[in-house]
Amino acid sequence: MTDSVAGCGVLVTGGSSGIGRAIARSLATQGADVVSAARRDQEAAGRVRPLRADLGRPDGCEDAVARAVGVLGRLDILVASAGAMLIDDVVDASSSDWQTMTSVNLTGTTECVRAALPHLLQAAEGPRGCADIVVIGSISGRRPTPGRAIYAATKAGLRAFVDSLRQELAPTRIRVSLVEPGLTATGLRAANSPETLDRMTARTRELHAVTPLSPDDVARAVTWLVSQPAVLSVSQITLLPTSQGA
Ligand SMILES: NC(=O)c1ccc[n+]([C@@H]2O[C@H](COP(=O)([O-])OP(=O)(O)OC[C@H]3O[C@@H](n4cnc5c(N)ncnc54)[C@H](OP(=O)(O)O)[C@@H]3O)[C@@H](O)[C@H]2O)c1
Repeated sequence: MTDSVAGCGVLVTGGSSGIGRAIARSLATQGADVVSAARRDQEAAGRVRPLRADLGRPDGCEDAVARAVGVLGRLDILVASAGAMLIDDVVDASSSDWQTMTSVNLTGTTECVRAALPHLLQAAEGPRGCADIVVIGSISGRRPTPGRAIYAATKAGLRAFVDSLRQELAPTRIRVSLVEPGLTATGLRAANSPETLDRMTARTRELHAVTPLSPDDVARAVTWLVSQPAVLSVSQITLLPTSQGA
């Protein structure tokens, strides 16, 4: 039983930018072979290989997992980081934005997990002694703020999914971890208009004067938790900028 990720096959969803990209690179630096799945074109970088996939489509997840396993030859670790945050008040929000968030954040993640499970079960029987599912949730899943009702609902849904799944998988050697970051400096908000962002930030007192985390801060935590000895499962981590408070 080893606590190294060297030689592991890893699929990171949402690896084209932000937190997912930082996680992919961090794990590759530790010697893992990583497939990074996203819609955008990505350059191969060392041990990180790109995979074009739309994980908001019903068939996109199963297909992406199958192609990742085809590239890697195995799957030891799934990191589900793909996500979208389209904010607005419920009364003004667009139904298609809600559909995007539920299909990528919630259904996309749960379908990737379902498709990955047979491969993870197989890997868990190998010399590493475990396999890992790491889901990137959000502090919004526990502390929803105005304008993020559906985003927060998808992240709260992931908490419930992960808590149930962890119990189902307890007899196996698959560890299930939920990582809930607070404000992190990525392009996640860029899909929203500057006016909407200004309006929402003005109402969210806690986000004033917050120095955000960097994607590398989150990647460091994920790399640490999948590097623990097989007998130790880190069930959840909340990562907050110090200035964001509790
Ligand atoms: N930034 C924060 O403050 C913060 C805080 C808490 C939690 N999070 C969570 O962290 C995760 C990563 O977000 P980020 O902050 O790193 O933002 P980001 O840079 O915008 O990353 C989002 C990633 O999701 C991918 N993605 C979106 N829709 C997709 C689809 N249909 N199919 C495949 N990939 C898709 C994007 O790739 P393509 O566009 O190339 O498809 C991108 O790689 C998300 O789950 C987010 O909810 C972020």
